[in-house]
Amino acid sequence: MTVYPTPNQPVAVFDSGVGGLTVLHELLVALPAEDYFYFGDTERFPYGDRSSAELVEFSDEIANYLLDSGAKLIVIACNSATAAALEHLRGRLATEGREVDVIGVIEPESVIAAARTRSGRIGLLATNATVASGAYERAVMTADPHTRLTSVACPDLAPIIQAGGAIDEQLVSVVRSYCEPLRDADVDTVILGCTHYPLVRPLLQRMLGPDVAIVTSGDAVARRVEHALSVRGLRSANRGEGSYRFACSGSADQFKSVGERFLQLPLGEVERVKIGKGESE
Ligand code: DGL
Repeated sequence: MTVYPTPNQPVAVFDSGVGGLTVLHELLVALPAEDYFYFGDTERFPYGDRSSAELVEFSDEIANYLLDSGAKLIVIACNSATAAALEHLRGRLATEGREVDVIGVIEPESVIAAARTRSGRIGLLATNATVASGAYERAVMTADPHTRLTSVACPDLAPIIQAGGAIDEQLVSVVRSYCEPLRDADVDTVILGCTHYPLVRPLLQRMLGPDVAIVTSGDAVARRVEHALSVRGLRSANRGEGSYRFACSGSADQFKSVGERFLQLPLGEVERVKIGKGESE
């Protein structure tokens, strides 16, 4: 039996932690009438060193939870999970007869980067898992085969940002070391291939130089969500602002205190839920 969602259901967004709130921020601004439900898998953060099999398993568990919570569309705000599980999730939901779109962050960003570059030299900053997957290479080459992607894995960056500490000299030198290969490659466009990196965008822009275009996923994804909902007749009938709510698998207090920096809006209540087997078992 085919299951069709209805316009009054929420748009669901998930990430490994709080970083996906930068994507939710864009959605709240671009599509304010929609209701949103965000889940951060903070107990199992970071995803960047996980295997692709683990990320598929986690994404399946989270998608089930979000569908049970009434999602009419799922945004995988996490780049590592998009790289590993987007095609799998789309295929699975189609097989199960669920007419729910799943939107990832890699292809929309790659299309923007390919259109933005003049020299054809594009840089990527992302987690180990995302770089190892080759997903950005494939997406950028599909968007424009006459480009070259220089990828830099940044294993330390997302955990430092997620910890919510000060923007100190340690962070500055970590960011500087990741920018070096991109400066050497003389790229003119850099994709921030991880949800957490927009938080250090001013640092990156300063180190990469003012002429380098920085591409983030939030804006591009908001447009994809708008198109997907419109084509299916699923835009909310709300007038004015819809609601938004949050759940996470780790500490709710920690999520709330760090999350507000990412969302740039008040979070309200955060519910702690257990997903899958959890980390401790
Ligand atoms: N959401 C993850 C990503 O975009 C952040 C980093 C991580 O979990 O390791 O890849």
